[in-house]
Amino acid sequence: MLSALLLLAAPFVSAGIVARHDAHHDVSPGQLPTTWYHTDEHPVHKLFKRGPATDGINYAAVGSPTWASAYPRSSPDISQLPQAWTNALSQAVQAGKIPDIPKTTNTPQTNPSYPSGTNPMDPSVCSSTYKCRIPGDTWDAPNGVFGTGFDDGPQPASATLNKFLKANNERATHYMIGVNILNNAGLFTEAFEELENDIAVHTWTHPYMTTLTNEEIVGQLGWTMEIIHNSTGGRLPRYWRPPYGDYDQRVRAVAREVFGLEVILWNQDTEDWSLTTGGTSMGAVNASMHRWLTGPKSPGLIILEHELSDQSVQAFISAYPEIKANGWRTLSQAEIPGGSVYQNEDDDGNVTPNLVGAQVSIAPSSSSSTSSSSASTTGSSGSSTTSTSGSTSASSSTTSTTATGSPTSAAANNGAPSDIVHSLTTILVAIIPALFVLV
Ligand SMILES: *[C@@H]1O[C@H](CO)[C@@H](O)[C@H](O)[C@H]1NC(C)=O
Ligand SMILES: *[C@@H]1O[C@H](CO)[C@@H](O)[C@H](O)[C@H]1NC(C)=O
Ligand SMILES: [Zn+2]
Repeated sequence: MLSALLLLAAPFVSAGIVARHDAHHDVSPGQLPTTWYHTDEHPVHKLFKRGPATDGINYAAVGSPTWASAYPRSSPDISQLPQAWTNALSQAVQAGKIPDIPKTTNTPQTNPSYPSGTNPMDPSVCSSTYKCRIPGDTWDAPNGVFGTGFDDGPQPASATLNKFLKANNERATHYMIGVNILNNAGLFTEAFEELENDIAVHTWTHPYMTTLTNEEIVGQLGWTMEIIHNSTGGRLPRYWRPPYGDYDQRVRAVAREVFGLEVILWNQDTEDWSLTTGGTSMGAVNASMHRWLTGPKSPGLIILEHELSDQSVQAFISAYPEIKANGWRTLSQAEIPGGSVYQNEDDDGNVTPNLVGAQVSIAPSSSSSTSSSSASTTGSSGSSTTSTSGSTSASSSTTSTTATGSPTSAAANNGAPSDIVHSLTTILVAIIPALFVLV
């Protein structure tokens, strides 16, 4: 039981030490949020609900062999999914909440493609890869805001990024890949505990989500939710970003109906993911960033950036002075839609691990309201767009290097082909052991 409290208490400890946006990671007992992001009936309540602190469950220390051994090492085996997840999926399907859209097939170097007869731009499908925007999802930042966020971590390059973010007191959203958390647990803990940055879901092994069955989508999202939840004192991420920005109404509905997840995309792409593969150069990334940062402030910027390589991290570090010099207000991307960053966090940043819920205006899933505006119309400056359609290869796959020798490697580039693009019942006793666990 004591160890069940450790993770709950730990962020408290750390907040005390680091004391930045404490409220953001504060853990407090007592009052519940007045509003919830999802109603009590939402399945996500049951899927990740923790028992009370006295439930006797021991949470293995993040990074320990016991912790790691409970998760898939590579693409989740759908025959091994927790029954509760598949039940939630079945219920959503039966309730007619998951559109019956065929899977895509993907050949390397091309966009995932639908079978003939399925129009990716039809509002009922609305594939982001084909530049269809589903209303209600976040693509743009408010005017004058630079949304800070990084995909594909944690990876070795994250160490440099974390140091820089901390030194500059910047809060960012990290869209993390599940197997990379397994392989780089220390960097995960650093981002969450020490930086108090925001953790979001970027799937377990980084596939094109439209190529997957509903069950495979559940595996990719569910395990990533689980490892984040069990490694952050019970926080349940509210946001996810599809790898390559590839999703449609079906993928979106599975994420939302089963796990309560909402999408954050981007409106500009430096293609920094291809810096290591010759797809772009530091000069080209610098030029694009310069153009956007000195361009119009409406809409604000959500630029696709990666903590994938030293180069991609350097691209952000190099642009940072211009972000500040041009008067952009920086916000962590997960702060942009408004409300809390975790599903079980109230407006004051308090998280109640054994309760999941919250307020959000998730747009109705009615596909009919879909607009098909092109992603690239966001334009700052009419400039460039991110993406030359899908031809740019999006295929390198970077191995997440670690000492564990894990067989998994998370595909790490992102390059979307298109331009889309805590109740801590005041248990101070737990604090001392928590220091052992997490420092
Ligand atoms: C996550 O924590 C729950 C208890 O809240 C436990 O039942 C589950 O086995 C843990 N998952 C893993 C993969 O360790
Ligand atoms: C571009 O590179 C120059 C020279 O290194 C640097 O001063 C500037 O901050 C960079 N700008 C961006 C947006 O990366
Ligand atoms: Zn990615």
